[in-house]
Amino acid sequence: MKFQDEINRRRTFGIIAHPDAGKTTLTEKLLLFGGAIQEAGAVKSNKIKKGATSDFMEIERQRGISVATSVLAFEYDGIKINILDTPGHKDFAEDTFRTLTAVDSVIVVIDVAKGVEEQTEKLVEVCRMRNIPMIVFVNKMDREGKDAFELLDEIEQKLNLNVTPLSFPIGMGYDFKGIYNIWEKNINLFSGDSRKNIEETIEISDINSSELNTLIGDKPAETLREELELVEGIYPKFDKQEYLDSKLQPVFFGSALNSFGIRELLDCFVDIAPKPRPKKSEERWVEPNEDKFTGFVFKIHANMDPNHRNRLAFIKIVSGEFKRNTTYLHVRHNKKVKFSSPNAFFAEKKEIVDISYPGDIVGLQDTGTFKIGDTLTEGEILNYKGVPSFSPEHFRYINNADPLKSKQLYKGIDQLMDEGVAQLFTLEINGRKVIGTVGALQYEVIQYRLEHEYGAKCTYENLNVFKACWVEPTDRKNEEYKEFLRVKHRYLAKDKDGQLVFLADSSFSLQMTQQKYPSIKFHFTSEFN
Ligand code: G4P
Repeated sequence: MKFQDEINRRRTFGIIAHPDAGKTTLTEKLLLFGGAIQEAGAVKSNKIKKGATSDFMEIERQRGISVATSVLAFEYDGIKINILDTPGHKDFAEDTFRTLTAVDSVIVVIDVAKGVEEQTEKLVEVCRMRNIPMIVFVNKMDREGKDAFELLDEIEQKLNLNVTPLSFPIGMGYDFKGIYNIWEKNINLFSGDSRKNIEETIEISDINSSELNTLIGDKPAETLREELELVEGIYPKFDKQEYLDSKLQPVFFGSALNSFGIRELLDCFVDIAPKPRPKKSEERWVEPNEDKFTGFVFKIHANMDPNHRNRLAFIKIVSGEFKRNTTYLHVRHNKKVKFSSPNAFFAEKKEIVDISYPGDIVGLQDTGTFKIGDTLTEGEILNYKGVPSFSPEHFRYINNADPLKSKQLYKGIDQLMDEGVAQLFTLEINGRKVIGTVGALQYEVIQYRLEHEYGAKCTYENLNVFKACWVEPTDRKNEEYKEFLRVKHRYLAKDKDGQLVFLADSSFSLQMTQQKYPSIKFHFTSEFN
């Protein structure tokens, strides 16, 4: 197959959802449709189950699963689909944000009963900021939930999306009869008898035919016709380009558990979802069909075996072909690197591949040379943008609890930070180290992993910080900036890359600082130029 054909047939996407909306179930059903797995239950949920076991056991369990589900690839209709896993748990939101830098589109799953939930709002906002094309899937139609129009309103308002339904439910919950497929203009009926199995669907192509009345009854048929008229009146006509430009989001309804509405979603997805998209680097835009290979690290996974510190770095291929045993440039280190056993991912298996194409993800064995955001090229000096750090929500001092193991401790902290488990800040005033995380759970992860993988012990101490803001002066030499550095000295720190960060202790003090030093910009993410 030609290089361009390989690019054209790839779709790399992520599923985002609030925990429990049905992300794992949907992923599994997509794999079943693609023939990549044979039975339900093969894809394990990677959510953190609180309470059942001690937290660190749970974290290890979750890590094990998330290695297996990091990338799930399958073929459908000649299309190579790569699903990138995105943890739904809010404590792992950074992981998800980073994974979103490697997807070309997303599917947003919403629970029909719960509607738009907090985690979905945050993740969709990131996708909107990055103009990522989104398809919405309203799940659990076999349960009682919100009225379809009400829910569409909620999605528009809370998620700030411009939606248009491409399928529409006939009833809901106990009365759920099926869906009308606006995209394909036909009907799939839900047969209530075999709710746990993959459905055989009956299709009719004319909404006005009396066959519809026979199939679902006079009243539901009438209601459906009215609702479809409303849909046509209220919502914009689907336009593929608007979807690709992230200006319009199609909506599908279904039930992942019952495999209902999944085929419609998948067929439409392979039809409209974007092939690998161009990506911006600090130097220039890079097109997927360029001859030369480029790619970037968006995720690092530590080996589960504590005796071997090998890690798996996940690279998204942006352009060119990535080949085994070929020398590439690690741009940040300005060093040549070569990989003898790059892994590709198929369903839940990984295997060594000789060649991969734009859109694909390869896993590279890493002994500590990579960090998140690193770029690989064939020689060009290129740095991909788009793997920013966000201001953490929690801050604690980290102390060495075993003075004989300080080397191990610092090495461990260094490597865990490269993996993106948390962020490290070093206070300007006294060099003390502060760990910032999105969720409190990460402190347990760090403590546990430092001990089990590096043989080091740490303790934490509370620190009153509200937000970490990356500081951008208009002019480093002006008096205002110099005064800021002097007055706020004890609130200043450097992040791991040496960027200056202001650790504001309250929203009020941040506001006052912003007012007092108007020539300085305070950013909540590390990437602002
Ligand atoms: P997540 O990955 O987004 O966290 O959600 P997951 O797929 O694990 O689904 C959460 C729960 O919702 C699961 O039930 C799952 O079976 C159920 N579910 C998913 N899709 C549907 C659907 O279309 N209809 C209905 N009625 N339920 C659905 P659970 O009891 O938490 O787990 P399990 O014991 O079934 O695995």
